[in-house]
Amino acid sequence: MKTIKLGKSNLKVPVIGLGCMRLSELDESEVPVYLQHCLDLGINFFDHADIYGEGECERRFAQGIKELKIPREDLIIQSKCGIIPHRYYDLSYKYIINSVDGILERLETEYIDVLVLHRPDALVEPEEVAKAFEKLKKSGKVRYFGVSNHKPSQIDLLKKYLKNEILLNQMQLSIQSSSLISSGLEANMITEGSIDRNGGVLDYCRMNKITVQAWSPFQGPHGAFIDKDEMFPDLNWALGEICAKYGVSKTTIAAAWILRHPANMQVIAGTMNTYRISEVAKAPNVELTRDEWYRLYQCAGHILP
Ligand SMILES: NC(=O)c1ccc[n+]([C@@H]2O[C@H](COP(=O)([O-])OP(=O)(O)OC[C@H]3O[C@@H](n4cnc5c(N)ncnc54)[C@H](OP(=O)(O)O)[C@@H]3O)[C@@H](O)[C@H]2O)c1
Repeated sequence: MKTIKLGKSNLKVPVIGLGCMRLSELDESEVPVYLQHCLDLGINFFDHADIYGEGECERRFAQGIKELKIPREDLIIQSKCGIIPHRYYDLSYKYIINSVDGILERLETEYIDVLVLHRPDALVEPEEVAKAFEKLKKSGKVRYFGVSNHKPSQIDLLKKYLKNEILLNQMQLSIQSSSLISSGLEANMITEGSIDRNGGVLDYCRMNKITVQAWSPFQGPHGAFIDKDEMFPDLNWALGEICAKYGVSKTTIAAAWILRHPANMQVIAGTMNTYRISEVAKAPNVELTRDEWYRLYQCAGHILP
């Protein structure tokens, strides 16, 4: 599996990570089998959040890893905090510190490799985030830090106080959900896609060596788009032709589309299906042509002005 360095660090991560948000959908007995399958594919990066399955995803992951007897240092474990479901966001010192303790307890580990701030908090005090990160780093509970769904200005506000680097920004990106890309491509137009919803975050991350992790890479605004021929005929037709050329599946091509972007992104795939994750793992071996990349983008309904 191809690896990249996460942000400015020397931490090497596979370009495909497993998102563990749906892990609690598997039966307990299926979890170790699935995790071993991922590891066999070279996927040793696991993305969690304190809220996934109300903590059950982290618990089942820990149980699965224990059964497999995988040494901790063979795994790269990331988790996120800051969302209190159906209520609000909390990036206060106390919340971050308590959340990490809960994460470590559920994951049955002494440290996580990366802690990510799940969403921006309007009431954030960057000094408090800085204090929390320093304490977590010093205690050895967290090695590295990142953010998710953050705009450049929100990252800059944090950076003004943080001693630790922000290595990554986890953002929604797929062929269909690609406002990150369309706002740049439709610059200076009055089209829907030209609306800058993220403050030019993709260019910002490239300029600042912040790795973009693409969440929900196989979902669009109406859910998964692959093989939904009736809803998305053009996209599925194009995916079908291109995957036939490379002798892979549409799933591989949808992930290869993200990896083809020169920002060197990491795909966080959430499938719990052994066949599909195997197909995702083939994506780093496929390099789409410029023609194919733009064709898929347009067939997903985006315009080129
Ligand atoms: N930072 C954030 O705010 C945020 C938000 C959401 C998610 N995430 C992270 O991103 C990860 C991925 O999110 P996700 O699960 O929504 O993304 P995804 O990988 O785009 O979607 C996976 C879902 O789509 C289904 N699916 C249907 N057809 C598929 C196909 N051909 N290929 C792949 N999957 C297909 C899968 O079902 P099967 O399991 O049956 O294959 C699964 O339910 C999460 O696990 C989480 O770690 C982060």
